[in-house]
Amino acid sequence: MAKTQTPHTCTACGASHTKWSGRCDACGEWNCIVEDTGLSKGPASTTSLGAARGARMVLSDLSSTEAPPPRSQSGLAELDRVLGGGLVPASAILVGGDPGIGKSTLLLQAAAAFAHKGLKTIYVSGEEASAQVRMRAARLGLKDAPVKLAAETNLRDILTTIEAEAPDLVIIDSIQTMWLDTVGSAPGSVSQVRAAAHELTSFAKRKGVSVVLVGHVTKDGQIAGPRVVEHMVDTVLYFEGERGHQFRILRAVKNRFGPADEIGVFEMTGGGLAEVLNPSALFLSERGKPSPGSAVFAGIEGTRPVLVELQALVAPSPHSQARRAVVGWDGARLAMILAVLESRCGIPFAGLDVYLNVAGGLKISEPAADLAVAAALLSAREDAALPADTVVFGEISLSGALRPAPQTENRLKEARKLGFTAAILPEGGKLGEKTGLSLTRAGDLTGFVGDIFGAG
Ligand code: TYD
Ligand code: MG
Repeated sequence: MAKTQTPHTCTACGASHTKWSGRCDACGEWNCIVEDTGLSKGPASTTSLGAARGARMVLSDLSSTEAPPPRSQSGLAELDRVLGGGLVPASAILVGGDPGIGKSTLLLQAAAAFAHKGLKTIYVSGEEASAQVRMRAARLGLKDAPVKLAAETNLRDILTTIEAEAPDLVIIDSIQTMWLDTVGSAPGSVSQVRAAAHELTSFAKRKGVSVVLVGHVTKDGQIAGPRVVEHMVDTVLYFEGERGHQFRILRAVKNRFGPADEIGVFEMTGGGLAEVLNPSALFLSERGKPSPGSAVFAGIEGTRPVLVELQALVAPSPHSQARRAVVGWDGARLAMILAVLESRCGIPFAGLDVYLNVAGGLKISEPAADLAVAAALLSAREDAALPADTVVFGEISLSGALRPAPQTENRLKEARKLGFTAAILPEGGKLGEKTGLSLTRAGDLTGFVGDIFGAG
């Protein structure tokens, strides 16, 4: 009979190995592989499980009429919308962002708002002393908010306390500072972050407490620590923005209880984060006179239309290899549009440096921005401003054909609301009654170029 090998498991990433080794080749952690004990030992026949059999699970029907507990609103409309309509009880939420972007400020304001709505709220800071958090609260005008504070990093103590206090909401700032005495490595290490996040999320489910974890983001834009933390939580929000700009965007990248891609817009002021209820007006407020290289894109972020200015600069390149630089959009998508302009419309960009910027620090991922990008690029290349008060949107395919964007009507409605009088968009797409805008519709990119510059 073949000898049965004892399975080993990596405590950091959960990968299984047939034998022990010093380093897990799945996650790269050292000294994390242990021999599996208990259930998996011995032949996997049902009878051998007998003694180790667990408790019976509680089974329920899909048709069960038990109503889900209601969501709680903070009253901060931008936050509530990104959460999918408010905070779901017993949910785990990860809020990621660059250091210094305003995560602690946002969550202290959120904690105060939820506490004022009657939620028992605890804010645990692993980075600042309670006195510092209190100072911040005073600066934000939140001194009277009924939020309980603690400065602690030992997760065992934190869990014991919140179990006894039974709050509705706990904020952990940040997950990278938390440590469990059962894990050997230092706070902030992959295994600690993973284990701490696991403890906190399972605590949230078990005890019906909502938990918000703050996570720092590394240089390449990922939440420091394992990606798997994102899988453990119900909702992942990113707090983004440019340090030099006052706009901050809270973006849902994953949400089990609402639409992903929803954004909330805030403005960092001397007195904390202020909600921006009409982001289009804000993103366009810095726009000067119509100038070459500028196009206004009528976009949709989550469920809301948002107008934003795209800026392009095209200049002869002094380098042997021309530069392409993008801020706020996808570099590969820019390369694709340049290639389509070149091969389908005969407009070369070789030997020209191309820069593209989304004004206001917003990041756009919609393919519908293609046509606005093309418009900005052409306008910059021709050194001719686009017609004033015109919005542009539509998707470009590799063949040079244009595809209508979803929610055409909502985009046009928003443009009209903000005083625009014309729109350039692809043919097709559902349009109900009169839009109140003068519409120029193009079937393909060549037609579009002809429409805006009177040449093919
Ligand atoms: P913070 O919330 O500490 O960032 P994070 O927790 O993401 O590291 O925010 C830090 C920045 O916010 C800091 O540079 C100062 C600025 N700020 C304001 O402009 N106004 C304010 O009212 C507060 C509290 C902070
Ligand atoms: Mg902070």
